[in-house]
Amino acid sequence: MKTIAVAIDGPSGAGKSTIARAAAGHLGFVYVDTGAMYRTIGLAVCRAGIALGQTERIQSVLDSGIQVSLKYEQGVQHVLLDGEDVSASIRTPEMSKYASFVSAVPAVRAFLLQTQREMAKTHNVIMDGRDIGTVILPDAEVKIFLTASAQARSKRRFIELREKGEDVTLEEVLADMKQRDHDDETRAAAPLKQAEDAILVDTSELTLEQSIAAVEAVIRPAL
Ligand code: C5P
Repeated sequence: MKTIAVAIDGPSGAGKSTIARAAAGHLGFVYVDTGAMYRTIGLAVCRAGIALGQTERIQSVLDSGIQVSLKYEQGVQHVLLDGEDVSASIRTPEMSKYASFVSAVPAVRAFLLQTQREMAKTHNVIMDGRDIGTVILPDAEVKIFLTASAQARSKRRFIELREKGEDVTLEEVLADMKQRDHDDETRAAAPLKQAEDAILVDTSELTLEQSIAAVEAVIRPAL
């Protein structure tokens, strides 16, 4: 079967996952959240007692035979670590830091690459991440670079975290976001950057509904 792949890359907090999930639902595509996979490896590394920055110890976790897999229930992606559903545990500010930390390690990226490519071979996917259009699916039929100003992104993330009961300030969220942007953009392994053939969608001034419509408008001609 000829499959269609939509790659959506961009910095954290641009609304990628919410928008990609909604668009996938409307268009009948499978939504693949690759950030969740990095978060899951981050969780495994954290559980192994490895502190942020102890890069040389990460390989031992990969070698221990951990398994990161995806499961779909009513179209919703769940991510499993050795069979345990960790979808909720990976959504904390600490796991954001661990995800960013492990994602700079080439062996971690290589570990996840096959699973991500395999998904696109077997399903019509909307896959979001940082390097989908540049590294994972360079031949994707549609590539979108989804972004928004750091202020707009941190405000949205702040509201989301407060709704979940996290005790954070807007300043902390903005500082974390700027740090993660910097780390994601400057790392040697698959840095975050717009693919040459990606279409830029800036959601700073758009509502969620408008953002979803803008993304679907880019995708529809390829269907
Ligand atoms: O998208 P999300 O915020 O869940 O991603 C968590 C972290 O995982 C990002 O800050 C980034 O460092 C990393 N990541 C990545 N490549 C991807 C997806 C996420 O490096 N394709």
